[in-house]
Amino acid sequence: MKSLIKILVVAIVFVAVSCKNDSAPNYQYMPNMYESVGYETYGENELYENGMAARTPVAGSIPRGYVPFDIENSTEGYELAKATVKSPLAPPIPLDEAQPESEATDVLRADYEKGSPLYSIYCAICHGVKGDGKGKLVQREKILGVPSYADAGRAINEGSIYHTIYYGKNSMGSYANQLSEEERWQVVAYVLKLKKDLEK
Ligand code: HEC
Repeated sequence: MKSLIKILVVAIVFVAVSCKNDSAPNYQYMPNMYESVGYETYGENELYENGMAARTPVAGSIPRGYVPFDIENSTEGYELAKATVKSPLAPPIPLDEAQPESEATDVLRADYEKGSPLYSIYCAICHGVKGDGKGKLVQREKILGVPSYADAGRAINEGSIYHTIYYGKNSMGSYANQLSEEERWQVVAYVLKLKKDLEK
């Protein structure tokens, strides 16, 4: 009898130990604690009919830090921008020799110096490094009708340049996605500087 108990004990220990596997979960009591219902990110789910897809923002929502441009993409919008829109950066004071060096000139210079590399990346390919409308694509006759910034007939100004960058104009595309609001204004400052230099 005693040896039978011994054998039983050994057998139970053997069975219990041999079933333990450290690499996998063993007996689980209340398994929903370990294996909670998982909703896959963006996966199927009964709460929303189209799963957990990113919700469409409420109409009229704007991203943080984004400043909407209320003027529309039309000829009237262009004229309105030309007449009313002013740069939030330093005022585009004339940068001729007569202009004494002032604090304001320095601020403006800081703006157009930041606009300069952006201009080289996005605009110079058509408009030319000097803004004379003779960029590489024009030289290779890939695009026609690129104006010089000094074109008197167009008489571009800060508002009209901003509108053009924002929406594009005819065969020129919009650069609203490539440039942030501040960067657009820095490019505007640089275009005005090029215009000034061309008119010298
Ligand atoms: C693919 C070539 C191309 C690129 C790149 C390009 N433009 Fe233009 N741009 C044009 C053409 C073509 C016009 C003439 C549009 C028209 O009036 O029909 C123009 C016109 C303009 C005008 C004059 C619009 C007016 O008021 O008459 C400005 C200012 C201007 N571009 C600025 C820029 C700036 C700033 C960039 C860079 C962010 C840029 N462009 C990039 C082709 C280009």
